[in-house]
Amino acid sequence: MTIIQFPKEMIWGAATASYQIEGAANEGGRGVSIWDTFSKTPGKVYNGDNGDVACDSYHRYEEDIEIMKDLGITAYRFSVAWPRIFPNGTGEVNSEGLAYYHALVDKLNEAGIEPLCTLYHWDLPQALQDQGGWDNRATIDAFVRYAETMFNEFDGKITKWLTFNEPWCVSYLSNYIGAHAPGYTDLQLATNVAHHLHVAHGKTVKKFRDLGTTGEIGYAPNVEWNEPFSNEQEDIDACARANAFFIEWFFEPVFKGTYPQFMVDWFKEKGVTVPILDGDMEIISQPIDFLGINYYTGSVSRYKENEGLFDHERVDQGYEKTDIGWNVYPEGFYKVLCYITEQYGQVPIYITENGSCYNDEPVDGRVHDQGRIDYLKQHLTALNRAMNSGVNIKGYLTWSLLDNFEWAEGYNMRFGIVHVNYRTLERTKKESFYWYKQAIQNGWFNL
Ligand code: NOJ
Repeated sequence: MTIIQFPKEMIWGAATASYQIEGAANEGGRGVSIWDTFSKTPGKVYNGDNGDVACDSYHRYEEDIEIMKDLGITAYRFSVAWPRIFPNGTGEVNSEGLAYYHALVDKLNEAGIEPLCTLYHWDLPQALQDQGGWDNRATIDAFVRYAETMFNEFDGKITKWLTFNEPWCVSYLSNYIGAHAPGYTDLQLATNVAHHLHVAHGKTVKKFRDLGTTGEIGYAPNVEWNEPFSNEQEDIDACARANAFFIEWFFEPVFKGTYPQFMVDWFKEKGVTVPILDGDMEIISQPIDFLGINYYTGSVSRYKENEGLFDHERVDQGYEKTDIGWNVYPEGFYKVLCYITEQYGQVPIYITENGSCYNDEPVDGRVHDQGRIDYLKQHLTALNRAMNSGVNIKGYLTWSLLDNFEWAEGYNMRFGIVHVNYRTLERTKKESFYWYKQAIQNGWFNL
């Protein structure tokens, strides 16, 4: 029996995002987002699902907070739907949108649950996309204005802010791979978007400082960890590119004010350049207070000529997979955290997302999601090892509190520790909920 013990100060939480849980798409003066458009475009989302109703958390947030109280978490990460605040991205503030988030945040604070607010979890106002979206630098200014409104409005009520969730997904998954909104397949466009997100992040951090807003600010990039298939230099290099696509490409600008040269050269060979203007790199590299890390999976990589963007392929080593088909790879969690610390120093880290997809359904009122419990145990053990190796972990927020709209997978893939019946909207706490609750209460668990 091994006991995995966490420090008393550890913050425990759960995470969600606006479009994935809120529903009420046409209520409260909310404008249209690119995810409304994308999900209603035939063939883009599994089963033609969309977020019109989702978990209906817009109406049921009080019930959800009761669930959080029972769970015993001390932090809840949610995101604000930009089109609820500025229905067209710019212009007049929609006070009904602000009122909704005030009600949510007040209830959380009353419950002793610290709100961690993500400003951008993918629901860009469609009106901005119509003018080029993140390819257009005007979107950066619109974002900073929206962020400023939020900082002024919630100063003192929300003290932890995240600018962007998973900028890799916002740029490459959405504009090069085309799997997410707005669904383009253009590498130069995706690279423009990545750079503009960095600039928007930096300008927002600067605005936060200039306003003297109380609290801390960071961002939440998603990382994967790949191990080279062999000691051949080709495999090592291909693997380094695969990792850098998630890590260095999105960390170096923020932490070091540069883009990694080997990646810049690689992109150049593909005819792609980063649209850097004077002053961009300084603004991007504003010091941040903490880093959010989203980790789910990793793999083994090897060189393959002309394969994908990086002459690289993933090799299936027979790892166990979750129901969405992703490798269960806790060792990668440990390694990536150690690597980030090695490269960027001992920045305080919150795990802003980690969790798994298992599609277990209720049987006699119970949801036996043993797969999720095992995943949690393995990843929390890896996290604990990383902490013991000097990684500066402050908190862990599991993805997700609720089953919800899983983007291109619609409602077909469930990541929640609470089951949602999408017909009745009834919530059922899963076995993993009770396991996590006990671990939080104790501050330790038995492996
Ligand atoms: C990443 C995203 O931030 C979140 O929205 C998504 O549901 C989970 N990972 C699972 O794919």
